[in-house]
Amino acid sequence: MPHIIGRYALFYTECHYNSTTRPVNPVRPAGKLPPHGECNSNTQHTESILFMSHLITLIPGDGIGPEVTEAAVRVVEAAGVSCIWEKMDAGADMVNKYGTPVPDEVINSVIKNRVALKGPIATPIGTGFSSANVTLRKRLNLFANVRPAKTLPGVKSRYDNVDLVIVRENSEDLYSGLEHIVVPGVVESLKIISETACLRIGKYAFDYALRNKRKKVTAVHKANIMKLADGLFLDCMRRAARDCPEIQYEEMIVDATCMNMVMHPERFDVMVMENLYGDILSDLASGLVGGLGLTASSNMGDHGVAMFEAVHGSAPDIAGRNLANPIAVILSAALMLQHLEETEAAQNVQQAVEKVLFEGKHLTGDLGGKATTNEITDAIIRALQ
Ligand code: NAI
Repeated sequence: MPHIIGRYALFYTECHYNSTTRPVNPVRPAGKLPPHGECNSNTQHTESILFMSHLITLIPGDGIGPEVTEAAVRVVEAAGVSCIWEKMDAGADMVNKYGTPVPDEVINSVIKNRVALKGPIATPIGTGFSSANVTLRKRLNLFANVRPAKTLPGVKSRYDNVDLVIVRENSEDLYSGLEHIVVPGVVESLKIISETACLRIGKYAFDYALRNKRKKVTAVHKANIMKLADGLFLDCMRRAARDCPEIQYEEMIVDATCMNMVMHPERFDVMVMENLYGDILSDLASGLVGGLGLTASSNMGDHGVAMFEAVHGSAPDIAGRNLANPIAVILSAALMLQHLEETEAAQNVQQAVEKVLFEGKHLTGDLGGKATTNEITDAIIRALQ
């Protein structure tokens, strides 16, 4: 039985190895191991080794969610990272049972483990329960949604030099869910912008730029029209920029940003924006690098709580047919490995995905191929080895 300590599971096991099969990171042995140089490939060792597994909440979600998250779990395990997955159900099926698409036990599991890998969850349009995704982000206080969009080798797209990251404020704006009917035929929907949330996302964007050796942050706004709301957002971005003189700072109106992203995407580096603009522009960015099936994202909160998921939805049109492209969730899992400081495994997964895309032999339908979800996943696992 493993001991659960914080977000790790620790257990001892007996391990037989030689210099070529010697366990390396990410299955981290705490016992004393002879360095590679001290044993040849024939030397056999047996040792009781302390293994550390990451405890991760796994939310398969709706539609293609279970298929693509299962693919990501297989790839993470093939990359040699020891994980214990705590599987949690959330989504439409939970509403009848619990009255909410996100039962408390899902929230408690993520708070305990601090890391979650999530599949897409469907949301009814216009009526019905409120979005499980918005509920998860709010209840877990996941205030920053980070979506990298980078040209991938071998993927047909309009540009070959895109490498930008959208940092989207995740907690307020028009997503506060504050709407009411003023009189029949007139609805008021409230856009909430607070100094606290803007300063927090501004600081996060500049910290992200510094940590990831980026050069520039672009603040995207519509302060010419929403002078108070977007004016406050801009004021906070300028304060965050003043605290980080190493990073270049610029501002751009959201409509001009759309045009510039389509015409000159290479000019952007890190982009920070409110919730609605971030929702729209991150899909635009996905389109620049080959579509939704390839775009990963992370939702970051305080105290290391983080949830990783693809940008795409539950794709009900292809659900359960082994047709979905799992790459966006696999790349989200690579972001998760990076967050867990499994840097080598994260890079290996990224490179394996790039290799499969470049070879172009095992591509799913959305990428112009005929491979199934299982076939492309198998190809990525082979590319890891
Ligand atoms: P969608 O992203 O599910 O599908 C749009 C189109 O892209 C469809 O033709 C679909 O087949 C295709 N597609 C999406 N992901 C794919 C993949 N991995 N491989 C191959 N093709 C893929 O968007 P849609 O139809 O607007 O939303 C469906 C449901 O998903 C809705 O209930 C929506 O609320 C939910 N959704 C959930 C999200 C989340 O959980 N983060 C994000 C976006 C939508």
